[in-house]
Amino acid sequence: MNTPQTATLLIGSAKPIGDSTSEALGGYLMQRLADYGLTGETHHVARAMRSEARTAGLLAAVDRSDLFVLAFPLYVDSLPYLTVQALERIAAHRQAQENARPVRFVAIANCGFPEAHHNDTALAICRQFAAAAGLEWTGGLSMGAGTPFGGKPLEEAGGMARGVIAALDLTATALAKGDTVPDEAVAIMAKPFMPIRGYTLMGGMGWRMEGWRNGVYRQLRARPFANQSD
Ligand SMILES: Cc1cc2nc3c(=O)[nH]c(=O)nc-3n(C[C@H](O)[C@H](O)[C@H](O)COP(=O)(O)O)c2cc1C
Repeated sequence: MNTPQTATLLIGSAKPIGDSTSEALGGYLMQRLADYGLTGETHHVARAMRSEARTAGLLAAVDRSDLFVLAFPLYVDSLPYLTVQALERIAAHRQAQENARPVRFVAIANCGFPEAHHNDTALAICRQFAAAAGLEWTGGLSMGAGTPFGGKPLEEAGGMARGVIAALDLTATALAKGDTVPDEAVAIMAKPFMPIRGYTLMGGMGWRMEGWRNGVYRQLRARPFANQSD
């Protein structure tokens, strides 16, 4: 295949624009691809699935792209509902075409737990989607402890983003040349940016602070349905 000229990013998080980790990761990759001369467009899943006209816009964007980038959060070991719906629409749309244009596909998953392997099932689903939609799978990047990266561009996230940036830089260089996602990028992306024990301690503190702020600090261990049989 020739080197890609155009890319479409679908942000699979339904958080408001500018808030999600998926947007920080996908947006950074698109910027690096732009440095290599690719032109790109970005779609947010909540908007794209809000009306038939907007969904048609997403389908048309994928049709005219050489590269389709999906950045999404892990929801209960899978992809968020709206993202699944979008992928189903893209697959059906491409299956209905006699000669669907060759499009390459890369997925970037991030989850809240510190271990990146929680994303394995979701990335396997992405790979299956690629096969069903007739897209060329170029690989998946998997990030644990993704939550702190939301709400700002990666370049503003300080030292904790060093590894992620290196992984996405390597990925952009490879994809721009028409190669697949390098193993080195996958390994760097999956590496926790801080010791897992420190991350879970901080996560626990954050959870208790949220409970305090919302007036439910003493109810955090409540199990209101524990005695129900069904
Ligand atoms: C409904 C829901 C389900 C989630 N399920 C998981 C999960 O199964 N495993 C996990 O590690 N994180 C889970 N998370 C955490 C998100 O994956 C994590 O906060 C992620 O960084 C959000 O990315 P975003 O900012 O791109 O939406 C879940 C979050 C929500 C809201």
